[in-house]
Amino acid sequence: MAHFVNNAYFSLEALWPTVRLAWHRRSFGGEATVPSKPLLLLTDPTHFEVSYTINPWMRPYAWAENPVGHLAAARRSFQSLAAALTAAGARLEIMPGVAGLPDMVFPANAAVVLDRLALLARFRHPERRGEEKHFLEHFRVLIERGLVLDEVVQLPPNCFQEGAGDCIWDVARGRFWAGYGQRSTRQAAVEVSAFFGRETTALELVSPRFYHLDVCFCPLSGGEIFYYPPAFSAASLAKIREVVAREDLIEATDEDAARFNVNAVNINDRLVMASASPDLVARLAERGYRVSQVDLLPFIMSGGGAYCMALRLDNRSAEASALLRAAE
Ligand code: ARG
Repeated sequence: MAHFVNNAYFSLEALWPTVRLAWHRRSFGGEATVPSKPLLLLTDPTHFEVSYTINPWMRPYAWAENPVGHLAAARRSFQSLAAALTAAGARLEIMPGVAGLPDMVFPANAAVVLDRLALLARFRHPERRGEEKHFLEHFRVLIERGLVLDEVVQLPPNCFQEGAGDCIWDVARGRFWAGYGQRSTRQAAVEVSAFFGRETTALELVSPRFYHLDVCFCPLSGGEIFYYPPAFSAASLAKIREVVAREDLIEATDEDAARFNVNAVNINDRLVMASASPDLVARLAERGYRVSQVDLLPFIMSGGGAYCMALRLDNRSAEASALLRAAE
């Protein structure tokens, strides 16, 4: 059942009772006929470039030395990523990019999605704000198609939240982890928790190099957390260690983090990530994960890796999965 809330600014905390009432209207039943492969949203890289600097990885002058060559390399990287994600078992939805909005290739920043609800991002930097309306339009198209989304909602003004890049669904624990301190506002974690009705732990990011949670924190299907401790405040590290058992914590090295390996897409026992060291591949294999490596250097020039480039549209809570199974 499609229902839009556009240009209406409200506190999502106040909206939660309405959302809860709407739960039974969501069309989980209709999904039973759809193959249960993960569905990822990607953006075509035709308009990708590095033309401004909003994180320390971005060097427009390096891009400008060979824009045609870098774009050609980006297209090849994108094709390899799409192939690796498909091989790992995903279905892909590829939307067009928009000229002048080069960072649309990172749709993980566009929204937080769970149980057929999308909370549209509100970008901190003016350079990326123009993306919001294009992603909103695409989410409307998806709602009209009726397959993955029922509703898209906007955040209150002045509450920055950069989508799944800064708010990651931990399927093993049924909770969100939300980054703040670089791009997203701390209050965003409260809004996410109220909107989705899920426990959401806010984690403070202290390094401009690791400006989104998804570049330093990656929950895995088996319950492990692959993370880079220096990116977090001491209090946030304590929170992580309070929730996650010691044996489930996998620490990334400086090299892993700098190669954007933490920014990985996890599908069951498969991990798709930027080129990694043999040591990391072996460490993850010991835990039962198979790594597919993709050369993502053109996108790393913008400060993004595999996870940023794919927004998971079919995240499910245990409750929704049970509804789905019942409908089968
Ligand atoms: N240049 C983009 C930015 O700084 C990169 C975004 C990468 N996305 C991510 N989810 N980490 O916003």
